[in-house]
Amino acid sequence: MARKSLVAANWKMHKTISEAVKFVEELQKLVESLDDREVLIVPPFTALHAVGNALNRGDFFLGAQNCFWEEKGAYTGEISPVMLKDVGCSYVLVGHSERRNIFGETDEMISKKVKALLRAGLSPVLCVGEKLEEREAGQTFQVVERQLKEGLLDIDVQSLAKIVIAYEPVWAIGTGKTASPAQAQEVHTFIRSTIEKISGDKSVAEGLRILYGGSVKPDNVDELMKEPDIDGLLVGGASLEVSSFKRIIEYR
Ligand code: 13P
Repeated sequence: MARKSLVAANWKMHKTISEAVKFVEELQKLVESLDDREVLIVPPFTALHAVGNALNRGDFFLGAQNCFWEEKGAYTGEISPVMLKDVGCSYVLVGHSERRNIFGETDEMISKKVKALLRAGLSPVLCVGEKLEEREAGQTFQVVERQLKEGLLDIDVQSLAKIVIAYEPVWAIGTGKTASPAQAQEVHTFIRSTIEKISGDKSVAEGLRILYGGSVKPDNVDELMKEPDIDGLLVGGASLEVSSFKRIIEYR
């Protein structure tokens, strides 16, 4: 089954509102209309509303970088899935390694966020990936399997079909060290088979989009996207400039 690929710009803690709007206005003019791929812009919370208003193409979507799991209440500083839906998001990143490692997010917290997003009608982009010491100790599959099983605990098959997985090896994020296409493909295949096991449904696993993230650049994107189980990209640093992100969207 052909999966439509998804190319996502995770801007992390970068760009003011005016910088963000200028970026999407320029980018949308420069990229030709896409039929086999979709673009996801994931700005900081402060720019979501303005970027959402500036998006004017059917192949461009808005996403957020994080959320809380409650709908509303006395949770100073948090943002709920309902609010993200309200501002126009379609996707929300969950369990990014920076959330796990800098802010102490656990698989249990991530699982609550995944469920809350699905309740609000949003698609979670669940990020998984091993640290360098885990890879060197031969624990990559074990770590990724635990993150998938615990992050997706008690999710029914229909909801699993709405989820996107992003494989981001921690050692490749912001380091300039990309996983080789073969290394990424190996883990993507493992993720797809794990989802088949969790869901008990081959078609859900086959329809699942699995993105690769970690030092994706214009000069390595084409090789990565040739792998059969890499269905898109989650791009940090190289998504901050229009010219490099445009080239990544236009992988060939
Ligand atoms: P870099 O592309 O800067 O390595 O970041 C990857 C990432 O964390 C995207 O979510």
